[in-house]
Amino acid sequence: MVLAVSGLCKAYGEIVVADDVGFSLAHGECLGVIGPNGAGKSSLFNLLTGVASPDRGSIRLDGHELVGLPAHRRARLGIARAFQIPQPFANLTVYENVLAAATFGAGLHGAAAAESAMAALERSGLKGHWATAAGALPLLDRKRLEVAKGIAGHPRLLLLDEVAGGLTEREVQAMVELVLELKRSYAVIWIEHIAHALKAVADRVLVLHFGRKLLEDTPHAAMESAVVQEIYMGIPADAAA
Ligand SMILES: Nc1ncnc2c1ncn2[C@@H]1O[C@H](COP(=O)(O)OP(=O)(O)O)[C@@H](O)[C@H]1O
Ligand SMILES: [Mg+2]
Repeated sequence: MVLAVSGLCKAYGEIVVADDVGFSLAHGECLGVIGPNGAGKSSLFNLLTGVASPDRGSIRLDGHELVGLPAHRRARLGIARAFQIPQPFANLTVYENVLAAATFGAGLHGAAAAESAMAALERSGLKGHWATAAGALPLLDRKRLEVAKGIAGHPRLLLLDEVAGGLTEREVQAMVELVLELKRSYAVIWIEHIAHALKAVADRVLVLHFGRKLLEDTPHAAMESAVVQEIYMGIPADAAA
């Protein structure tokens, strides 16, 4: 098992973002995460990466307990995150952004960092744009850059937060193909509202609501479930984004 989460609890005052959440994930698997806005999806990533500390619970990566470790230690142990809102260094090139991630995030240096950065650019489909200022990239390429920054450090677990959000249908398809390719090398958790994207990539889908795991099932079964229909108030998941 790459990741084993159990009994995870976190509240901000009255707001419960994790209520006894547990799941596990193996190498080469993709877990989709869905739930209405405010359900605690990004907060789950904050807890996994160490941006936030849980009130209770355990997060094991390759058997090592992560709770209590700071974010930079977890990054070195192999957790990488593509943020919901890409925030590259706009004035640096695409390559420099990925190099910075390989260096400061993953602790690589010199030739190893440079090679890793170029490999990440190639894999995420950005090689031709390596010298472009990151701020000049269109949205799909900014999302690709988030992914490239994540994989530049050779993570074990790749966390994708709505990397297909805001893309055109054709671009969503490109992202689906990228994530399908990536999941051969990493355990992936993909938070996404776009049902058909998760159906194409995820092995299982976990449904969060007010920080509670309502169910975990195959993508089709999860999205067609009565609970999901209900929490999205009868709106198909595709239209609920
Ligand atoms: N650091 C924080 N302090 C207080 N409230 C927070 C914090 N982080 C998230 N929240 C609240 O927790 C809830 C879940 O947020 P989030 O995990 O971002 O939801 P989403 O499922 O849309 O990604 C929201 O109501 C949000 O305002
Ligand atoms: Mg979110």
